[in-house]
Amino acid sequence: MNKVSVCSIRQRKGKKKVTMLTCYDYSFAKILDSSGIDILLVGDSMSNVVLGLKETRKVAISEMVNHTLAVGRAVKNALVVADMPYLSYQTNPEKSLYYAKKFISSGAEAVKIEWFGGDKFLDNAAGGCPYVVKKLIKNKVPVMGHIGLTPQTVHLLGGYRVQGKDKKEAAKLIQQAKLLQDLGVFSIVLECIPCELAEYITKNLTIPTIGIGAGKFCDGQVLVVYDCLGLYPDVTPKFVKRYCDLSKIIDSAAKGFISDVQKIKFPDTSHSYHFNDNQWDEFKADL
Ligand code: KIV
Repeated sequence: MNKVSVCSIRQRKGKKKVTMLTCYDYSFAKILDSSGIDILLVGDSMSNVVLGLKETRKVAISEMVNHTLAVGRAVKNALVVADMPYLSYQTNPEKSLYYAKKFISSGAEAVKIEWFGGDKFLDNAAGGCPYVVKKLIKNKVPVMGHIGLTPQTVHLLGGYRVQGKDKKEAAKLIQQAKLLQDLGVFSIVLECIPCELAEYITKNLTIPTIGIGAGKFCDGQVLVVYDCLGLYPDVTPKFVKRYCDLSKIIDSAAKGFISDVQKIKFPDTSHSYHFNDNQWDEFKADL
């Protein structure tokens, strides 16, 4: 398998779909990397699915850095992308380059930035998301954009709801996508937007779009890995496809362990260590 790079992802436009899954630790990274996935995203969805926090905004920069280090150590082929958490660029855009480089020096090969700052930065690209993206790219940090439903600023979007469903909102998303492309991002995540709009954006960009809840016309697809493995069976958004029921498998394994221990079936002799030859008998005789 060839190492996936920012350049090879860009070249996939219109040729072969790009696959991306989130990943938060060493063990999953090893398995997913050898499965042939293109991109592993150390997503800030880690806040919800790993840390049990209610909002992605709450994850600490140090936590994201530590998990990026773990994923980076395992990966041989996939492109590792780190999600810049809220605190690393939305509260202080001036420090965004420092934190982006922190992620790059921790094993990420690119960072992902959610659109922020509202519409006022669409025209002059003077502040908000365009300002940060420009600054990182100027300093040779590859950036993946993210528009549509952007969970870090969900309170400004009217909650977890599909974005771009009317003409005005759709026009803004098209403008954001084009501006991000002009600023030099190598791909853009489109989250929870109508599939017709995602198709239009995809056809009108020269860089790949990676959809989540954005239909089949995107150049690639991303899912939160715990969703597609069925680790949270009670929460299944419409756009998720579950490929196995890992929570059931884990539950059954844990119950098997509990039962074996209670019935003294585990550990058996094959799981136990023994003295060589008749050393134990000799040892007891010497006591
Ligand atoms: O953090 C995350 O999981 C993401 C994906 C939904 C794209 O940003």
